[in-house]
Amino acid sequence: MKALVTGGAGFIGSHVADRLLERGYHVRVVDSLQPRVHPKGKPPWVRPEIEFIHGDVRDKEVMRRAMEGVEIISHQAAYQDYMPDFSTFISTNATSTALILELVVEMKLDLRKLTVASSQAVYGEGRYLSPVIGEFEATARPLAQLEAADWEMKCPKSGRSCENLLLEERMQNPNNAYALSKLFEEMTALRLGKLHGIPATALRYSITQGPRQSLYNNYSGVCRIFCLRLLHDEPPIIYEDGLQRRDYVHIDDVVEANMIALFDDRTNYEQYNVGSGRATTVCEFAQKLIEVMGKDIEPRIPGEFRVGDNRHSVSSIEKLKALGWAPRRSLEDIFRDYIAWIEGFGDLGEYFREADRLMREAGSVRAAKAGACSGASGEGKTQDATRS
Ligand SMILES: NC(=O)c1ccc[n+]([C@@H]2O[C@H](COP(=O)([O-])OP(=O)(O)OC[C@H]3O[C@@H](n4cnc5c(N)ncnc54)[C@H](O)[C@@H]3O)[C@@H](O)[C@H]2O)c1
Repeated sequence: MKALVTGGAGFIGSHVADRLLERGYHVRVVDSLQPRVHPKGKPPWVRPEIEFIHGDVRDKEVMRRAMEGVEIISHQAAYQDYMPDFSTFISTNATSTALILELVVEMKLDLRKLTVASSQAVYGEGRYLSPVIGEFEATARPLAQLEAADWEMKCPKSGRSCENLLLEERMQNPNNAYALSKLFEEMTALRLGKLHGIPATALRYSITQGPRQSLYNNYSGVCRIFCLRLLHDEPPIIYEDGLQRRDYVHIDDVVEANMIALFDDRTNYEQYNVGSGRATTVCEFAQKLIEVMGKDIEPRIPGEFRVGDNRHSVSSIEKLKALGWAPRRSLEDIFRDYIAWIEGFGDLGEYFREADRLMREAGSVRAAKAGACSGASGEGKTQDATRS
């Protein structure tokens, strides 16, 4: 029984690889050890019994070797960052998926399942309910609105505030290169899979958190950023007003969803959200983390925002729950497991200084205009580094 996990040195891929080893699989991993994720090379959690191929998922010869004799493929490798090299998103995430299918056909592989890691990002700003025009697909909030520290989504016709809707699999509204690449990735897997009789499933993960998230890559998200700051007795810095609603799911729940996707034939040619089933504001997230870490620190809300951040992103998980899956870990479990992991690293100063530098260098953080943020004197409630 051979399984291939692409991106298997990364956060989610390495946990999926471990679970497949436990199930008795011979696990092969192909990973390019992307320098922004693994600046120190192959991470120590890649177990010695894994057959490791250091290579790129875009390279046909590497993939031909990696796919030899496998019966399942979990495609987790991806380019995910805030960088402007749009074509890298498409080639790494979407073209690689097409290459996998191309090789399944060419090699006449008897593949039992291909799963692809999609993302809540495919929903973009999602959908809202306006009292005037009903349900509508939201677009990015105008810069002038954000500069005026006016954060909620408005009805395009009346300008009135609207109700954010839970994200359901029927929707899609990608608004950046990463999100587009993820939508192409899942459609390629599901549509070409169906056409050629290659069972495929796409999982749209919400913000996944847990041990082994890259400590370097800025895309790794809010848990890392807030934890690192708090460990250095610095307040978490919250963007906008901290009332953005997010969906944080524990890595173990995501791994279990992957097992269902890989081994339950009812998932063939379908996509599923994998989330926590609850909305958490960034403020709540920061406050709970502070409590768990036992710190006497108030988060800061300096009135900054990140260009391109969505206002709210919370997924409906009913479709996957109907197959017997359910998220079982709480926010506290996320914090406990993550903190235990990063505390093993010793001095963490270098990690958070570097990540902050990279994000500011990319020019993605802006400030609302002076005076626009009532009460945002720098003290207050929250922020987020959205990630999905
Ligand atoms: N972590 C999340 O919150 C989240 C949310 C939504 C979707 N996802 C998706 O889940 C998957 C796993 O994400 P993660 O958080 O584990 O990321 P990660 O960065 O920890 O892991 C990705 C791995 O892919 C490897 N990789 C990158 N480009 C490659 C290439 N061209 N060839 C071979 N390997 C390459 C990297 O070296 C890394 O080890 C990705 O597809 C991501 O888009 C993650």
